[in-house]
Amino acid sequence: MLLAIETSCDETGVALFSEEGTLIKHLLYSQVALHSPFGGIVPEIASRKQLEVLTPLIKKLLEETKFSIKEIKSICVTFGPGLIGSLLVGVSLAKALSFALKIPLIAVDHLQAHLFSIFLEKKVEFPYIGLLVSGGHTALFLVNSWEEYKLLGHTRDDAAGEAFDKVAKLLNLSYPGGPVISKLAEKGNRKAISFPRPLLEDKSFDFSFSGLKTAVLNYLKLNPQFNTEDVCASFEDAICDVLIKKTLRASEILNISRIVVTGGVASNKRLRELFYEKAQEKGFEVYFPSPEFCTDNAAMVGLVGYYKWKNKLWDSLEKEPYARAVFEKFKF
Ligand code: KG4
Ligand code: ZN
Repeated sequence: MLLAIETSCDETGVALFSEEGTLIKHLLYSQVALHSPFGGIVPEIASRKQLEVLTPLIKKLLEETKFSIKEIKSICVTFGPGLIGSLLVGVSLAKALSFALKIPLIAVDHLQAHLFSIFLEKKVEFPYIGLLVSGGHTALFLVNSWEEYKLLGHTRDDAAGEAFDKVAKLLNLSYPGGPVISKLAEKGNRKAISFPRPLLEDKSFDFSFSGLKTAVLNYLKLNPQFNTEDVCASFEDAICDVLIKKTLRASEILNISRIVVTGGVASNKRLRELFYEKAQEKGFEVYFPSPEFCTDNAAMVGLVGYYKWKNKLWDSLEKEPYARAVFEKFKF
């Protein structure tokens, strides 16, 4: 049995996998309510809460699955990227368990875990274009195998989820902004305001969303009688448009017909609908994990951890967690 831990940000996730690689159970503790009054994540609060809830959550997981800690054969944990204080909580506990139980420690990269999360539910053939859209990241990858995934482009400033959260704050809506904006957008006119589509014409696969957020701010200042639903609908479509067109362009240029969209923003209903529609027009297949596995969770960490465990890709207790992503950009 393999125990997986995810504490890279504000969610605490634990999961148990069988020796055959089946997900037995996963549990998630969300801190959303705690950070909501601040309109975003407060790192100090996040790490303190991680420390408080992680051990009880593991105990709960073992109780509910009727396993004992002694039955665990390996422990895998997110090493980064993320908030260093939060990461240290999971990594320190995993190292302690690895040392005490004399079992292998496996370091999992959070972005890799998102990129492969689709395999928790579906079989997708390699290679595929992986779009990772969350509150902390917006990046496009060429995924060739479990061990080879290359960065095609990433955001130069705000992540897509961050843009949803910041625009929600401008509109005095609650945190996290994505689900609230998405709900209001359903009743709005998507063509009411023509917000910019940043970097859409740019040849790179990079994204940029901070200018879009500023465009919303300027619009609100110039139109104090604005219609919130129209702003939400027009903003949501601007984000979806950029994400979809850039991803489809990558598929076309690299001649890869499979697309996998992961991360918290991949739960967005409009993004899913438009992606299916646009991909179908071009003859591409697009896959999304269920919302349960789009957001941060330990099941996706355990999946990559299981692969590394099977292939004896174990890590040393000396390995340190890292806050920033370490990727070399793919050149073509
Ligand atoms: O992956 P995630 O749970 O955490 C990380 O950032 O790693 O993503 C959270 C982000 C937040 O910015 C939230 O606003 C956004 O995902 N999000 C959404 C939706 N649900 C969550 N954005 C747009 N539409 C949604 N339905
Ligand atoms: Zn994440």
